[in-house]
Amino acid sequence: DVIDVRSLVSEGYFTYDPGFMSTASCESSITYIDGAKGVLLHRGYPIDELAEKRDYLDVCYLLLNGELPNDIEKRDFHRTVMRHTMVHEQMHDFFKGFRRDSHPMAIMVGVVGALSAFYHDSLDITNDRHREIAATRLISKMPTLAAMAYKYSIGQPFTYPRNDLSYGGNFLHMMFSNPCEKYYVSPTLARAMDKIFILHADHEQNASTSTVRLAGSSGANPFACIASGIAALWGPAHGGANEAVLNMLEEIGDVSNIDEYIARAKDKNDPFRLMGFGHRVYKNYDPRAKVMKETADEVLSELGITDDPLLNVARRLEQIALEDPYFVEKKLYPNVDFYSGIIFKALGIPTSMFTVLFAVGRTPGWIAHWKEMISGPYRIGRPRQLYSGEPTREVKE
Ligand code: ACO
Repeated sequence: DVIDVRSLVSEGYFTYDPGFMSTASCESSITYIDGAKGVLLHRGYPIDELAEKRDYLDVCYLLLNGELPNDIEKRDFHRTVMRHTMVHEQMHDFFKGFRRDSHPMAIMVGVVGALSAFYHDSLDITNDRHREIAATRLISKMPTLAAMAYKYSIGQPFTYPRNDLSYGGNFLHMMFSNPCEKYYVSPTLARAMDKIFILHADHEQNASTSTVRLAGSSGANPFACIASGIAALWGPAHGGANEAVLNMLEEIGDVSNIDEYIARAKDKNDPFRLMGFGHRVYKNYDPRAKVMKETADEVLSELGITDDPLLNVARRLEQIALEDPYFVEKKLYPNVDFYSGIIFKALGIPTSMFTVLFAVGRTPGWIAHWKEMISGPYRIGRPRQLYSGEPTREVKE
């Protein structure tokens, strides 16, 4: 049931809803979630079917345009995105301003925001063409910037994109090829990368997407808006959870230590939480986690990893959490971050890059929401507050 409270404003009322537990901040036709049933649809299509039958760029097209592309649209869109994968050469110098040990998310917030300083032909948000170019550029360049952040951290030269590869395959190439050694891009791993990006592509009004909308509501340019989304994604309660999951699995180390951590997660006096479990909206199995788990099995099998200690801990944790009355009663199921870290680790991607990959995947969702908002009538987002400070008082001399 929806209560429209807009009419209360003229009567001098406003609602108080910290954390937006029951407040819809907008109307949207992009993504539907039924948290109780564990359903996630993009433009009406179930996420598991999209992940199985389509590639990431098809899903980007769907989110941005409302329909899956036909053959000609697909060819044109893929070609356009892959043609814009390079970044301005001067960007290379920009990276050098960061310390080598900077967290790659810190670099991403900076360099994505800085795209607005490089591409002045896509900043006019009232111009359809500018909006299109900005959307394509962001989808094209995010993997390049992400791989550059990684290469910078390990002191290797940047690897230029290969536009003949798939989106996921090109990303793996830019991460792992170097001038002395060409990385073989396995089709299975490239497909897995593509699927991971699909599973992250959109999730309606989560913290980072809401941040992008809020920033966009002031008329800020698209690159600045997406940079604000990356910043909001970074926290461990949101996109940072995939990094936190792996750190947690490593800390647990062995199946024999699991009971101790389960007890800690249930102890109200201990701030520890089982990372990768629970979700604000899903009170059932996260449908993305199911596909992610299958993808983890495919990747580990392709890489010949049969007995991975972290995977054993993860599997046992999941089993216990699904049976333990505390988790059952609170409906704490594994979320999308639970298995993605295991796949990234198997691919050789360092932990600090995990949230960056989430950001790459989420980019079309952020842009689709930004575009949807600025294409219709909208007002600047301006939440109210309940003031609880001092009443008026006199300033003493
Ligand atoms: N481990 C143990 N207990 C938990 C966990 C957890 N992972 N998650 C929630 N709980 C408990 C809380 O202690 C609380 O218990 P109480 O009712 O006795 O106080 C109850 O479940 C409800 O939790 P809230 O924090 O109120 O739920 P909220 O909707 O605000 O938070 C969140 C959701 C942030 C995802 C939370 O479940 C969490 O911190 N999970 C771990 C981090 C994580 O995996 N984040 C990724 C989210 S998915 C994504 O961003 C893609």
